[in-house]
Amino acid sequence: MLEVENLRAGYGRVEVLRGVSLGLGPGQIVALLGANGVGKTTFNGVLSGLLKPWEGCVTFEGRALPPGDTGAALDAGLVLVPEGRHIFPSLTVHENLWLGGYRRGRAHRARNLDQVLETFPRLAERLTQRAGTMSGGEQQMLAIGRGLMAEPRLLILDEPSLGLSPLLVEEMFALIGRLNAEGLAILLVEQNVRLSLEVAHRGFVMENGAITASGRAQDLLADPDLQRSYLGV
Ligand SMILES: Nc1ncnc2c1ncn2[C@@H]1O[C@H](COP(=O)(O)OP(=O)(O)O)[C@@H](O)[C@H]1O
Ligand SMILES: [Mg+2]
Repeated sequence: MLEVENLRAGYGRVEVLRGVSLGLGPGQIVALLGANGVGKTTFNGVLSGLLKPWEGCVTFEGRALPPGDTGAALDAGLVLVPEGRHIFPSLTVHENLWLGGYRRGRAHRARNLDQVLETFPRLAERLTQRAGTMSGGEQQMLAIGRGLMAEPRLLILDEPSLGLSPLLVEEMFALIGRLNAEGLAILLVEQNVRLSLEVAHRGFVMENGAITASGRAQDLLADPDLQRSYLGV
């Protein structure tokens, strides 16, 4: 479904991604794992068209995505829920959700909203509340709900568990599993290696802008090197 080949990208003259290749099949959760600063968000930036790569290409459902074109990525159904949520704090929950369908999903906004509120009953209770007054967990739910309003074919979640309490982290990963069970493909970008691999089908480990390990999630979980570096075993 998604095929990324030999991606090189950076800022100014500083190279961040040093030839990254990654694939994701329909209906899969693929975890992209790595410590802070290795290039995960930069990778998402290229996928969603926010950043033009220096080299390499992204193919989505058989079509090459034009580089650096956020509209084309969104139209194709690549929807990014960015790191740090970036909701509009002074707008209401309803307004934030509605904006999620501004380009893609416009024709089905009302139906999509019903579906999102079914998935997130807590948002339904808070439709008229200003988004900035909600808890971190609720804001993350809102950010994901807003992404779903755009009718993703592939949902890219950039560190959805960041800054959440342990209980909410568990809830977040359960939600990711549920969304996937309904057929949604998900690229899960995370530092929480264990929980990500427990919910994902496959995983890729990024270090210093390059993929250093990849495979089936269960194999990665059992990998002694990975256990030593990331799982505290
Ligand atoms: N807008 C930017 N301009 C310059 N350097 C950046 C920018 N964004 C990120 N970087 C640098 O790129 C590297 C990778 O960052 P990032 O992709 O955010 O990593 P991660 O998401 O894995 O934490 C870091 O060294 C970071 O400082
Ligand atoms: Mg990041």
